[in-house]
Amino acid sequence: MYWPKLNTQKIKLKIFEALSKNANYRSENILGLPGTFLDTEVFYDGEPFLKDAPFLSTLIANPNHIGCHTLETDHEEIFNGTQEIEKDLIRICAEEICKAERHEYDGYVASGGTEANIEALWIYRNFFQQEKSARLHEIAFVYSQDTHYSIPKAANLLGIESLVFNVHENTREVDIVDLENKLNDALFYGKKYFVLVLNLSTTMFGSVDDIGKITSLFKLRQVNYKIHVDAAFGGFIYPFTNADNAYTFLNQDICSISLDGHKMMQAPYGTGVFLIRKNYMKYVCTEEAAYVPGMDYTLCGSRSGANAICLWMIIHAHGSVGWTVKMNELLQKTNEVCKALDAMGVKYYHNPFVNIIAIKSRYITKDLAKQFYLVLDTHEGEPKWYKIVMMPHVKQEVIDDFLLQLGESVKTI
Ligand SMILES: Cc1ncc(COP(=O)(O)O)c(C=O)c1O
Repeated sequence: MYWPKLNTQKIKLKIFEALSKNANYRSENILGLPGTFLDTEVFYDGEPFLKDAPFLSTLIANPNHIGCHTLETDHEEIFNGTQEIEKDLIRICAEEICKAERHEYDGYVASGGTEANIEALWIYRNFFQQEKSARLHEIAFVYSQDTHYSIPKAANLLGIESLVFNVHENTREVDIVDLENKLNDALFYGKKYFVLVLNLSTTMFGSVDDIGKITSLFKLRQVNYKIHVDAAFGGFIYPFTNADNAYTFLNQDICSISLDGHKMMQAPYGTGVFLIRKNYMKYVCTEEAAYVPGMDYTLCGSRSGANAICLWMIIHAHGSVGWTVKMNELLQKTNEVCKALDAMGVKYYHNPFVNIIAIKSRYITKDLAKQFYLVLDTHEGEPKWYKIVMMPHVKQEVIDDFLLQLGESVKTI
């Protein structure tokens, strides 16, 4: 995995050069587009600091990145400059982080993990309908009880039933007997096509689904399935803390992956990344988007080019080496908290490559949870777990304070 670290000057040059290749609403004869630069009452143009602020300048110039630019179809040439930067970002995510073969993928910057996940499931539903003449009731989305709610949301939107399998309480690993029973029932009741959503880290636990164990059941029965990896949480950490991981395009079973730039990458909200193998985007081509050169293949339609620019800038400000160091530092801090919890005898769940710790709720008082904004597993009834997420803003003194107070309250249990 490699991409270079660039200094601020080089990053600035690259983005301003890209912007200069876009059509400019201020200086060109743009009559036909329903878009323009940001309102000058609120966003002043020509402020001296803007010449050193490529992201803000892009935000103000307001290029529309509508569509999917890795496809070989016609494009909205008017914003070609910054769309090329997005293509380079997608290349790094697909080829360097997710190990896709050169040019063997498509992708775009989505509004977030939710959109990227829905896009994937929309593609597979249509794939099974178009290629296998599947009927809606013959398709099922398969995922664990710990899966992010964007997946049931997608199931609801797309009119597809879910097969939700249990995980073991303490290890968060697939309950394979439960999955096997549910799969047998689904087959018995006429399901023929399965879309498996596997977590490259769940939101609450940081747990990672065992791809081999889960797919072996489907392989054994020789049923049709497609795999989407939800790496919205783990996608920008796990490949850097566990280089030899099984959740890349090297695994021929994996067809698409979603990542989120607005978590550990510290990009602004609106920076999801959707990646899929070549020749799948066509299943969601909205041909009615006749006025968009190259049609639309995305869920969102118009989207700001500034988000893609920002993620490209962050990625290059660190370089692959710097990012690996940064993610391993987060992991190191997480591991130190785990050691302290062990010493106190506090029970928790932690995947060794992820910066989340889910602590059994019996050790956490409501006051402590409130004071440190700990997130609980459910607001319905009594929570069983509280989680800590070791994000870049978490200072050592906050961790120390938390552990001190936890230590005091554990003594009274
Ligand atoms: C595993 C997982 N998938 C999907 C999402 C949804 O991402 P977003 O909120 O960016 O839409 C999240 C968000 O926390 C997540 O953790």
